[in-house]
Amino acid sequence: MKRMTTLLCAAQVCLVTMASAAPLSITLPAETAVFKPNALPGYPLAQQKCSTCHSADYINFQPPGMSLGQWTGEASKMQHVYGAPISDQDVSVIGAYLAVTYGSARASDSDVQAASTPSASQTPAAPVAKADAMALLQSNSCLSCHAIDHKVVGPAYHDVAAKYANDPQALAKVTSSIQQGGTGKWGNIPMPSFTQLSPDDLQTLATFVLRQ
Ligand code: HEC
Ligand code: HEC
Repeated sequence: MKRMTTLLCAAQVCLVTMASAAPLSITLPAETAVFKPNALPGYPLAQQKCSTCHSADYINFQPPGMSLGQWTGEASKMQHVYGAPISDQDVSVIGAYLAVTYGSARASDSDVQAASTPSASQTPAAPVAKADAMALLQSNSCLSCHAIDHKVVGPAYHDVAAKYANDPQALAKVTSSIQQGGTGKWGNIPMPSFTQLSPDDLQTLATFVLRQ
């Protein structure tokens, strides 16, 4: 037992001492370059799928307090704009992890739990509509212009729901707003039309928005 190796780690630095060699100092990547661990299923997924093109620094350097919708929108942008090889399900699970770990969401929020377990939508008892709506919001890039609780390019869905709260025609009007797009109801910025969506999909989206 002549050679002994000890690995002493403090903060980011490990000190490796060998019996007959000078201490060697190894610097590990800074804390911001790795994903913060927790028990959410999106943690291993983010490590695996979000570190291939850039480090976790990109996540750490986003403004604090981003919502579930915003973080999911970020992951969705990676998928749609930058071609990250991730599924819609990955986007949802990773979005939930990021929103809890770096944003304003809590692991106990029901929308976080729904987004973290998309396979739950396959069991009959689960709230299918919500998962469908999230998938539609993601696949149509709605979340690049909208968030649930604050204005992005378009109004917060929460504000849309509030505006139509006492309108008996709410569902029909909002369904038509999404289908036709347009401008003038919330400002001068136009919303694109989504005429390619099926009536079912439009109704799922409108119902979701009006519940926020
Ligand atoms: C296919 C490559 C690729 C993958 C995989 C990827 N990204 Fe990105 N990401 C990019 C590019 C390109 C940029 C923009 C780089 C720049 O502006 O310098 C970017 C930028 C970002 C930013 C900075 C803000 C912004 O919108 O520009 C965040 C946050 C981010 N990525 C998060 C993620 C997350 C979360 C994942 C995993 C779901 C991920 N990325 C996976 C390519 C990728
Ligand atoms: C390019 C940005 C953009 C995208 C993408 C987008 N929206 Fe919008 N959205 C807007 C803007 C801007 C407004 C405000 C329009 C106005 O003032 O009339 C708006 C308004 C709305 C409204 C309010 C309509 C009303 O009657 O008051 C709803 C609901 C809505 N969007 C849902 C969606 C859904 C669902 C999607 C995806 C299928 C989507 N948006 C995609 C920008 C966008």
